[in-house]
Amino acid sequence: MTLIDGKAVSAQIKQEIAAEVEQIVAAGGKRPHLAAILVGHDGGSETYVANKVKACEACGFKSSLIRYEADVTEAELLAKVEELNQDADVDGFIVQLPLPKHISEQKVIEAIDYRKDVDGFHPINVGRLAIGLPCYVSATPNGIMELLRRYNIETSGKKCVVLGRSNIVGKPMATLMMQKTNPGDATVTVCHSHSKDLKKECREADIIIAAIGRPDFVTGDMVKEGAVVIDVGTTRVPDATKKSGFRLNGDVKFSEVAPKCSFITPVPGGVGPMTIVSLMKNTLLAGKKAIYQ
Ligand code: GUN
Repeated sequence: MTLIDGKAVSAQIKQEIAAEVEQIVAAGGKRPHLAAILVGHDGGSETYVANKVKACEACGFKSSLIRYEADVTEAELLAKVEELNQDADVDGFIVQLPLPKHISEQKVIEAIDYRKDVDGFHPINVGRLAIGLPCYVSATPNGIMELLRRYNIETSGKKCVVLGRSNIVGKPMATLMMQKTNPGDATVTVCHSHSKDLKKECREADIIIAAIGRPDFVTGDMVKEGAVVIDVGTTRVPDATKKSGFRLNGDVKFSEVAPKCSFITPVPGGVGPMTIVSLMKNTLLAGKKAIYQ
């Protein structure tokens, strides 16, 4: 069994990005600039955004954090999105989700100029991904593809089960794995809360990508010998032994599943760090105007 070290891979990629940024700047180019909008004080969102700002520093990017209280109006938020769309110094930006209930997430996502949508959530980027055109790809699935690539994991012709059908992870993950690329070229099944025999589907899979947000959902009896298991879960569960009072729990019951695997990602230290580094890669592409002019 090989433990996939997302922390080490992400550190290496951040170094690669930083080296490229210094070359760009030395040649008289512009330092990439990522802006992030954070609404309210959700604990998870605060941590994610703080980590994104920290990653920008490590990559040599400029970053801006724009904060609003949870009672900000949708109109105010949309006005800021439009301002960032127009700001030539901002190469890419994100609006951290979830947003308070009185604000339409879809409206906000669609207000973002797709050329600056480094999250890859805008329908134009999602649509371009679906038909294999250059675009910004959602960070978590893109990070998983990078791990499969760097660990030389064979995916062509393999049975891949994606657990979860979210717009951010499950759907783009399935799209990427079925694409005529390497990694990719897999036979993909997407399972969700209404799937009839999810356990059977998993037992037949060569690759399982678990993104349903249910702690320890994938148990040993659901995994075939030699499978590759990618755990996207990061549910906060109470843990009195931690200073924060909680720990991050994956969707996979690691103690049972890991001994059966050829490769597995841990939580934390697997997919999580790759998600942030994928956003950094998209920001570098935005800075270079590599996808859209
Ligand atoms: N909330 C959870 N994941 C993400 C992400 O990748 N981007 C944004 N903007 N919000 C999130």
